[in-house]
Amino acid sequence: MVLDNSVEAWNERARQAQTPWEAASFSEYSQVARYDTVAKYLKIGDWPGNSVLDWGCGFGRFVDWVSPEFTYCGYDHSPEMVARAKELYPKCKFASDVKELELGYDHIVAIGVWTLASAFTYLNELTWLWDRARKSLIACLYRGTDERCTKSDPIAVVALANSLTNKWLIDATYLPNDFLVAMYK
Ligand SMILES: C[S@@+](CC[C@H](N)C(=O)[O-])C[C@H]1O[C@@H](n2cnc3c(N)ncnc32)[C@H](O)[C@@H]1O
Repeated sequence: MVLDNSVEAWNERARQAQTPWEAASFSEYSQVARYDTVAKYLKIGDWPGNSVLDWGCGFGRFVDWVSPEFTYCGYDHSPEMVARAKELYPKCKFASDVKELELGYDHIVAIGVWTLASAFTYLNELTWLWDRARKSLIACLYRGTDERCTKSDPIAVVALANSLTNKWLIDATYLPNDFLVAMYK
């Protein structure tokens, strides 16, 4: 089976999925593990009133981990994902067109976004997102053994993080197939 990262493939998953974790091709357990870990490093309690961009938001379930004092915006390149997110969270902002986004956000999270992407894009996109984050960028990346998926290289991610800031951390404890990078300004 070829797993495809095209907008159309994600649109199809969005139409067929019954749950936010199914839409992402995650288990519920792994989705919650990622969200709990991202929320821990986002330090939500410390920064009321800040804005959060959830890049590659899928059905937008991460909004349940974000304090109501935050301004949340979910972006996904799949319009069908965004349509399902809007149904589930009608009071939140979601977009599938980058032109609808603000120029910058205090915090940007990207959770499992590049698992099916071409191998080289995640480092470029992390850099692009870092330039748009005023305070932090947090990403969950795949490091498992499924040949159909894009395995992110923790060493390359550390090198990138270290070139962008001296405040970064890696957490590879929350799931065997994943790791998180958090970078702060
Ligand atoms: C594995 S799902 C994860 C969804 C969500 N972050 C979650 O934790 O459930 C990946 C999502 O990223 C979106 N995506 C993939 N590549 C993207 C890109 N380059 N820009 C924006 N969204 C992207 C897909 O449409 C899909 O909804």
